[in-house]
Amino acid sequence: MTVYRFPENFLWGAATASYQVEGAAHIDGRKPSIWDTFSAIPGAVMNGDNGDIACDQYHRYPEDVALMRDLAIGAYRFSVSWARVRPDGASGPGGVNRSGLDYYSRLVDELLSNDIEPWLTLYHWDLPQALEDRGGWTNRDIVQRFVEFSLTVHDALGDRVRSWTTLNEPWCSAFLGYTGGVHAPGRMDGTAGLVAAHHLLLGHGEVTRELRRAAPDANLGITLNFTVADPADPSDPADLNATRLFDAQFNRLFLDPLFRGEYPADLLADLRTAGRHTEFEAAIKDGDLETISTPIDSLGVNYYHGELVSARPDPNGISNEAPVERPVKSPFVLNEDLHVHMRDLPRTDQNWEIQPEGLTRLLTRLHREYLAGSSVLMYITENGAAFDDVMAADGRVNDTKRLEFIRSHLIATHAAIEQGAPVVGYFAWSLLDNFEWAWGYAKRFGIVYVDFDTQVRTVKASGRWYAETSAANAVTS
Ligand code: NOJ
Repeated sequence: MTVYRFPENFLWGAATASYQVEGAAHIDGRKPSIWDTFSAIPGAVMNGDNGDIACDQYHRYPEDVALMRDLAIGAYRFSVSWARVRPDGASGPGGVNRSGLDYYSRLVDELLSNDIEPWLTLYHWDLPQALEDRGGWTNRDIVQRFVEFSLTVHDALGDRVRSWTTLNEPWCSAFLGYTGGVHAPGRMDGTAGLVAAHHLLLGHGEVTRELRRAAPDANLGITLNFTVADPADPSDPADLNATRLFDAQFNRLFLDPLFRGEYPADLLADLRTAGRHTEFEAAIKDGDLETISTPIDSLGVNYYHGELVSARPDPNGISNEAPVERPVKSPFVLNEDLHVHMRDLPRTDQNWEIQPEGLTRLLTRLHREYLAGSSVLMYITENGAAFDDVMAADGRVNDTKRLEFIRSHLIATHAAIEQGAPVVGYFAWSLLDNFEWAWGYAKRFGIVYVDFDTQVRTVKASGRWYAETSAANAVTS
């Protein structure tokens, strides 16, 4: 038996997001977000599912917080629904919906009285529809609206919340939302994705500046989704180029401006060559990159799987996208010679490859190329897997595959820490089975099972194991 002991004070958390768990979509002054609108489009979400009820956490948060306490969860990563707090996206004090803010205040108090750190994300994809109607993230005005919303939340909760994440996975907001049409708002325009990415980053920078001013001791950060991309044929220059392009559009487009104050030069050159640079470059104004690179304290790392990339299509034609009944596009702007291949690896229920060693490589790369010499700490803010859980006759959910998935990724994290990567926390995705975006309720990620008919929660084997692991501050295998 090997024991992998984690550093003292390592943070063991669990994560969710507002639209995925809250429900209560039409009460207490909340107005539609882009996900309410998108879910109503026929064929956009599997089985026509939506977040109207989800896990009903809006009403059941005391029960969920009690569950967290039983599971030895040290921090709860949740997000605030903009559409609850500033439902019309309108400016000024008149735009604030008090009862929306009060919900988060009650949730935070409940967490604190159970010794659980509230870990708050300001934007996890549910933009007020009213703002999308004005161009959403493609309209530069959104940056000021995001600042205003964030300060409203901070005014209400800043006395009790220390850890603030500006954005969750801006790659998804920009490119799944505005280029691929896979996520809300469902647009399919390469340029819109690039411009949205810039405004998201700018919004992050402006909010970070303002929060730093308001709360110098707060823990401020951003969460990005990363992958490790490997060429299908390392001896083929076309595959190497495809891998570079993938990495540039997925990882470096966000990392470089945040940590180096510049967009990747190779990507800018490729966009120019392809004649797809004009609107993106026009969106970048003097001083923007300085704002975007405002220093942060923590980098949130979301990791699910790696990618095998090639200039040629996958000979087996397997896809890991949600099989929705609506035309979608590639989320990549430069996609002509970019294809993902499936390897002979075990996969989750979404056809996502299980590749824990990629996490070690990712964390050591982030440390080496972006964080070394700085005081920025890394948290795994999401990691987990969808498996087809079955509740046995005795009421137990024996999700061995998820347990092993989490165990292997924790061991991979431990290996990166041993190699010097400053990783100080891990959040399991997710606390609860929930609304998995375009997959609806068809894919379960929770360490706690949710019966969506009765809203009964049942801790899965992975949840019990996670509680033991957190209490021991060590993984055994
Ligand atoms: C990324 C997102 O942040 C989260 O909302 C989603 O459910 C998980 N990954 C799983 O796909």
